[in-house]
Amino acid sequence: MLSNSLKYAGIIATGSYMPDNILTNFDLEQMVDTNNEWIISRTGIEERRITGDDMATSDIATKAALNALYNAGMSPEEIDLIIVATITPDMAFPSTACIVQKNIGAKNAAAFDLGAACSGFMYGITVAEKFIKTGYYKNIMVIGAETLSKILDYTDRNTCVLFGDGAGAVIISEVEEGYGVLSSCMGANGYDGHLLTLPAGGSRRPASVETIEERLHYIKMDGSEVFKFAIKTMGQAAEDALEKCGLTKEDVDFLIPHQANTRIIDSAVKRLKISQERVYINLNKYGNMSAASIAVALDEANQKQLLKDGDVVVLVGFGAGLTWGSAVLKWKNYRR
Ligand code: UT7
Repeated sequence: MLSNSLKYAGIIATGSYMPDNILTNFDLEQMVDTNNEWIISRTGIEERRITGDDMATSDIATKAALNALYNAGMSPEEIDLIIVATITPDMAFPSTACIVQKNIGAKNAAAFDLGAACSGFMYGITVAEKFIKTGYYKNIMVIGAETLSKILDYTDRNTCVLFGDGAGAVIISEVEEGYGVLSSCMGANGYDGHLLTLPAGGSRRPASVETIEERLHYIKMDGSEVFKFAIKTMGQAAEDALEKCGLTKEDVDFLIPHQANTRIIDSAVKRLKISQERVYINLNKYGNMSAASIAVALDEANQKQLLKDGDVVVLVGFGAGLTWGSAVLKWKNYRR
C-alpha cells in the first residue's frame, strides 16, 4: 500500500562474488596479438576473473546476493523485489532475476532483469529508490552480474582484453531522513547505439549458421568512439546528480566510477577535482565487468570500511545503448 509521505531510500548492505579463475595480460599474449604493456598503458587492466563452463550469471549473482543478505542480517523472505542488471543473462527467459529468486529462497519477491549494459546497476539503483521512496516496497535487492567472458571473441584483441566476470549486490531499504540516495540521473543516446553491440541472437538476427560463421554472437565495439563518449559523459553525469541535490564537487568525499579504463576515470577525477585516494579503482584486478563493476567496487570499498557515516559518495557509469547513470549517496554504515 502507498503511504502519504515520501521516504528516504539507501543502501543498507552490500555483497559481491568474484570467480576464482584469473586471466592475466600474459595469458592473453598467448591468445591474441597483444602485450601486457599495451593493455596496462591504454586501460590500466592487469588481470580479470573468468567463470568456468559450469557457471552462469545467475550462479555468481546468487553468491553475491547471499553475501549481501548475510551482511544485512536479513532473511531472503524479507526481500520484496530483485532487480538483476545484466547483458549476459543465463538465457533470454526466464529472467536471471527469477532464477536468483529461486536460488536464494526470496519467495515473496517480484523479480526482473534490467538491460542498460554498463549503466544497468545505476539504473537499478534509481528504480529501486523510487519503489522504497513511495513506500511501495520495503527491501529491494539490486544486483549487477556479468559473465562477459561468454560473449567475448578471444580472437578480437580490440575487445577481449577489456572485460571480465563478476557480481555485486546491494540491498536498498528505508533509511533515516537525510541519508541514502540524495539524487540520481539516468540518460540514453540510442542514436549512437551502434558503437557497442552484440549483433546476433535476438529477433533482428536470430542465431543461424551464418551468424555463427560471421562471429556475430560476440561483443563488437568501436573503442575510440566509446572512449570519447565516456570522457564527455562521466564527469557531466556526476555533476548533474550533484546539482540535482544541491551539492557541488567540493562536497564529494568518495567517487566510485564505472571501471572501464583508468584514462576515462582520470578525466572524471580531473573534472571533479577530487584526489586519487578518494576514488575507488579495482579495474586492474577485474577489468570492465559492465553492470557488475560499480556494484563490486562499492562492496569492496564498503568491506574495507573506506566509507564513513555522512560521506557524500558519488557513483557514476556509462555504457552501451549508449547509456549513463549517476547517483549521490549520503552514506551510513548499517549493522544489524
Ligand atoms: O563499459 C563501456 C565499454 N567500453 C569501453 O569502456 C571502451 C572505451 N574505449 C577504450 O577504453 C579505448 O578506446 C581502448 C582501450 C579500447 C583503446 O584505446 P585507444 O587509445 O582508443 O586505442 P585505439 O583504439 O586508438 O587503437 C590504437 C591501436 C590500434 O592500432 P593501429 O590501428 O593504430 O595500428 C589498435 O589496433 O592499438 C591497437 N590495439 C591493440 N594493440 C595491442 C587495439 N587493441 C589492442 C590490443 N593490444 N589489445
